[in-house]
Amino acid sequence: MDSTIHGFNKDFLWGGATAANQIEGAYNEDDKGMSTADFVKYIPKNERGKHNLSMDVTADYIKQVIAGETNDRFPKRDGIDFYHRYKEDIALFAELGFKVFRLSINWTRIFPNGDDKEPNEAGLQFYDNVFDELKKYGIEPLVTLSHYETPIALTNRFNGWYDRQMIDCFTNYAETVFKRYKDKVKYWLTFNEINVIVHSPYTGGGILTEKVSHKTKEEIAYQAVHHQFVASALVTKIAKEMMPEAKVGCMLARMQTYPHTNNPEDILEAQQQNDLNLFFTDVQAKGEYPKYMNRYFEENNIQIEKEIGDEEILKQYPVDFISFSYYMTMTISTENLKNEVSGNMVKGGVKNEYLETSDWGWQIDPIGLRVTLRDFYNRYNKPLFLVENGLGAYDKVEEDGSIKDEYRIDYLKKHIIQMKEAVKDGVDLMGYTAWGPIDLISMSTSEMSKRYGFIYVDQDDEGNGTLNRYKKDSFAWYKNVIATNGEEL
Ligand code: BG6
Repeated sequence: MDSTIHGFNKDFLWGGATAANQIEGAYNEDDKGMSTADFVKYIPKNERGKHNLSMDVTADYIKQVIAGETNDRFPKRDGIDFYHRYKEDIALFAELGFKVFRLSINWTRIFPNGDDKEPNEAGLQFYDNVFDELKKYGIEPLVTLSHYETPIALTNRFNGWYDRQMIDCFTNYAETVFKRYKDKVKYWLTFNEINVIVHSPYTGGGILTEKVSHKTKEEIAYQAVHHQFVASALVTKIAKEMMPEAKVGCMLARMQTYPHTNNPEDILEAQQQNDLNLFFTDVQAKGEYPKYMNRYFEENNIQIEKEIGDEEILKQYPVDFISFSYYMTMTISTENLKNEVSGNMVKGGVKNEYLETSDWGWQIDPIGLRVTLRDFYNRYNKPLFLVENGLGAYDKVEEDGSIKDEYRIDYLKKHIIQMKEAVKDGVDLMGYTAWGPIDLISMSTSEMSKRYGFIYVDQDDEGNGTLNRYKKDSFAWYKNVIATNGEEL
């Protein structure tokens, strides 16, 4: 047995990750339908609440928007115009040396209303073009089937994933794209950050919770996610039947939680928070509901309606690999401490005095990534894929046109170092796709100024700019990281 402790495998999948609704634009071109993302407005930073959330949408608001009764802006509708510029962008990804590019298929390009009788050929053709372009450069696509892009028609009709009928709509959509792209796409993810539905049911499930007055938001979300679990397992089944070589993964917004002190109460609370976060991957990787949730559901009056056969399908079709996003960690205290910090979608938590925060208050924790990877691997013993990680920051274009984003290089470098350590610890890691390799519209705030890219896009929060692309300093740095397979950081 080879006992050498080495770094990344030679076939390690380096690349970048995006979502259709944050890059494509062209929201109503070529018969595309509207998705939930098209109704998330931009809120300037000074008007935003503590947790940076701008995604809460109500039924009344949707009506207002459709009736043209608001002056709000919806930046995700225009994205960064990837729809028309994908060739230029993919050429830049190729120059970076990408082995893999993560993107989502926008369900509403394929089925504008979510469940139309026939798929929209123009939408199918667009992704054919994108996959062909990637292939030209030997870049493997990693495709998310659902990245916060529930067709708004299904939100209006069924109240999104709260309704079990969504399962059929989704499996039909998945089968359609599998049939079309089975020779072009090998790596698939079912639901992006499946746990986010509990924090934002609209974002994760296209659900308007006020329509279900007899249930708590949490009960609604757990019911909806049960439907997503079943849909994900069924889609995995279909994928296996249609594409024996395909690999299907789940995707979690991993939020490692630390105890604030060594008070056993804090430790227990941190463990509980971690279990609540890992519940989703527990179901998708192990194929069954973990026992610890029985008590949680009972104590919180959460009743989940399941149908005969659900448990069997979950058991039969667990995922092949586990993917996740990692941006920060949380620290929990059982005492009522005042210094609460912001998380991505997750409320609560206190300041960790050992960690710095980003301009958006996210606690930066590279070592936490190693902890996370080791925990994941010990818990599931399945291949892992880090499909989102990066620093959202303000960038400044210098007079000579350069963008000196050494803070981004620093963030990524420190995380990749810890990722390498985890691999040396024995973790089976398939790849790494940095979030937003090209600047894109922020998911949580719909800002443009929250930039993650190696490639700068000339567009501001108000939607002004040439949309021209420029290389930041991090471009050359990441290119070399990939070229040396993570040896030179
Ligand atoms: C993840 C999402 O939660 O975080 C992405 O999957 C998102 O869609 C990313 O863009 C970063 O969050 P934000 O709010 O900075 O765009």
